[in-house]
Amino acid sequence: MSAELKHLITIEETPLEICQSLLKTAQNTLKKGYHRYPRLNDLKKLTVVNAFFEDSTRTRVSFELAAMRLGGQVINLPVAQSAMNKGETIKDTIATIAAMGCQLFVIRHREDRILEQLSHQIDSPVSFINAGSGRYAHPSQALLDLLTITQHKKNLSDLSIAIIGDIKHSRVVSSQLALYKKFGIKDIRLIAPKTWIPEQLSDHYSITDNLDKGIEGCDVINTLRIQKERILESEQMDLAWYRQHFQLNHDHLSHAKPDAIILHPGPMNRDIEIASVVADGPQSRIQNQVTNGVAIRMAILSFLAKHYV
Ligand code: NCD
Repeated sequence: MSAELKHLITIEETPLEICQSLLKTAQNTLKKGYHRYPRLNDLKKLTVVNAFFEDSTRTRVSFELAAMRLGGQVINLPVAQSAMNKGETIKDTIATIAAMGCQLFVIRHREDRILEQLSHQIDSPVSFINAGSGRYAHPSQALLDLLTITQHKKNLSDLSIAIIGDIKHSRVVSSQLALYKKFGIKDIRLIAPKTWIPEQLSDHYSITDNLDKGIEGCDVINTLRIQKERILESEQMDLAWYRQHFQLNHDHLSHAKPDAIILHPGPMNRDIEIASVVADGPQSRIQNQVTNGVAIRMAILSFLAKHYV
C-alpha cells in the first residue's frame, strides 16, 4: 500500500486505494479466522486507547477485540470518571494519555469535527481513529457495511442500494455515501420522511418518501436507527406514523429483489424502523456486519500501526 495516512477520520480523506486495501486485509482476516482469537503481532508494542464520549456497544467492543487479536494492549478510558469532570479539556486528557506511551486513539464524540481539531492540537506522534463523530462521520461502519455487501454481491457498479430512515441525524449515512461514491455505486435511493432528508443531498441522490417505490428492485436495503438523542423537540416524529410508513416489514420487502440483503448498523429499535421477523429473517446480514466489524477494525489498526514500527 503506497499512500500514507496517519489518521482515519473520514472516508472522504481516505484514498480509494487505502479503502480497497483495508477491505482486502479484512477479507483475508476472515478467511484465515484471525478475527476469532489472538494470533497476530501487528500491535505487539502498541497501546490502543478507546475514548468513547458517547454510548456504544459493538463499536467499542470490536475495536477492543481487534486490538487484542493483533497482540496490542488496550485502555478503555473511563470517561465518566475521568479528570474531564474536574474541568480538564479533551485535548489535555488525550495529550496526558499520549505522554504515557499510547499511540492509537479510537474516539467517539458528539462533536462533528473533534478529531480534526485534536489531530491539529496534539504534537505527540499518535493516530486518531474516528469511531463516530456527531452526525458527521463513522468511517469504520461504512467500511464494514461495504465489506458485507461485497461478500454477497459481485458487481458493485451495478448495485441498487436503498437507505431508509433517519438520514438527517445519522453519521453512518454520510460515510456510506462517500464510500459508495468512491467505489462507483451510482444507484443509491434515500427513503425518509421529507423532514429527514438534508437539502444538500437532493441534487445528488434519488429521494422518495414512498418506501415501496424506493426499494423497488434494489439489491441492498440499509435501515437506520431513529437517532432519538439527536432529534430536537421541535422535530419529534410520531413513531406510530413512522412505523406505518417506513418500517421495513415483509410486505415492503417483497418489492426488493428476492435476493436483496438487509443491513442495519445497530443498535436496532426493533419493530420501529425494522420488523423483528425481517431483522431475524433469512435476508438479514446484521450479525455478519458485526463479525465483519472486528475484521475491518483489525485492518484499520494494523494499517495505522505501521507508523510506529
Ligand atoms: C451507529 C452509531 O452509534 O453511530 N452504530 C454503530 O456504531 N454500530 C449508528 C447508530 O447509533 O444508530
